[in-house]
Amino acid sequence: MRAVARVDTGAVERNCAHLKATLGAGSELCAVVKADGYGHGAEACAAAALAGGASRLAVATGAEAAQIGAAFAGTPLLTMGALTPEDLELALAAGSDVAVWHDEFRRIAADRARAAGRPARVHVKHDSGMGRLGTADPNEVVELARACAADPDLELAGVWTHFATADEPASTFFGEQLERFTAVAEAVKGEFPTVTVHAANSAAVFRDPRSHFDMVRCGIAVYGLDPFQGDPAENGLAPVLSLRSYVADVKRFPAGASAGYGQTWRAERDTWVGVLPLGYGDGVRRGLSNNAEVLIGGRRYPLIGTVSMDNVTVDLGPDRDVEQGEEAVLIGSLGEERILAEDVAARLGTINYEVTCGISARVPRVHG
Ligand SMILES: Cc1ncc(COP(=O)(O)O)c(C=O)c1O
Repeated sequence: MRAVARVDTGAVERNCAHLKATLGAGSELCAVVKADGYGHGAEACAAAALAGGASRLAVATGAEAAQIGAAFAGTPLLTMGALTPEDLELALAAGSDVAVWHDEFRRIAADRARAAGRPARVHVKHDSGMGRLGTADPNEVVELARACAADPDLELAGVWTHFATADEPASTFFGEQLERFTAVAEAVKGEFPTVTVHAANSAAVFRDPRSHFDMVRCGIAVYGLDPFQGDPAENGLAPVLSLRSYVADVKRFPAGASAGYGQTWRAERDTWVGVLPLGYGDGVRRGLSNNAEVLIGGRRYPLIGTVSMDNVTVDLGPDRDVEQGEEAVLIGSLGEERILAEDVAARLGTINYEVTCGISARVPRVHG
């Protein structure tokens, strides 16, 4: 295949079983499958996550709720993002729980639920310091929870927050957020004992068991990517995705010959250059120009020249030991060698999340 993202659903299942085992007995695992499962394929990964011990799913948008709600009817689903009235309708029609953080949206949710003839399950969001969605004032959170519980068109299903620095071990702000939220959650849970209290993302799960509460919302770890941008194995996780292509051509380059747009690379000596038929149109970012490695035949070779939309070039060295047609791996393992999404992210000055989310729709995901 020209370019393919192979997705090991068995690894998703094992990562979820590991996460579930990390949690206390009373805490549910909610697998976050937004953004097409962080680029891995939402439906296949959701099925594997549920097989591995997740009991709930979460998405960000109305369209995602419609897709996942239809594929997994009966599995509790939470749509976490801000919703336009149209998106809200989609999410509620899909049977999804939704986030509420101010009174105006509470009223809209109640109106839509009444029209749909079924109470909307809502999770009241506390902004304990992330500074995005949520009500910062603890008293307002409790008031909002009361208003939701009293509304016949709503069902108060949860109280929740999101951490800003769970992935930064040196940050003390995580502890501050946890403290603020714990107080709010205790107040709400004291009045409404059936609410689901949830806060932790993947990093928080590994960082502090006090953040586990009734449920955790894990995305990145489900996909075997390290929330701390190190080696996933350190937290018992195995990468799920590999990005593979092949050597479409092997060409002799005399010393001084250049490859790619802008002639950003020239052969220092006579060498062989391999051409791989994928590029930034597939999500191989242009920032990897002269700044990446590719595995071919179990060895590492430097990506040279500028990343084009549909091609990249690789310096195979002066001895021709790579043949046209051989497999080439940009993320993943080949033989003893491996390239982690975290390695690619470090080269780009970004995070593994952006690397896998950025693999474009042009690349087929093959699950197995
Ligand atoms: C509100 C919320 N909860 C949970 C998650 C999952 O986070 P992670 O992928 O770090 O586990 C996200 C993802 O960004 C999120 O936005």
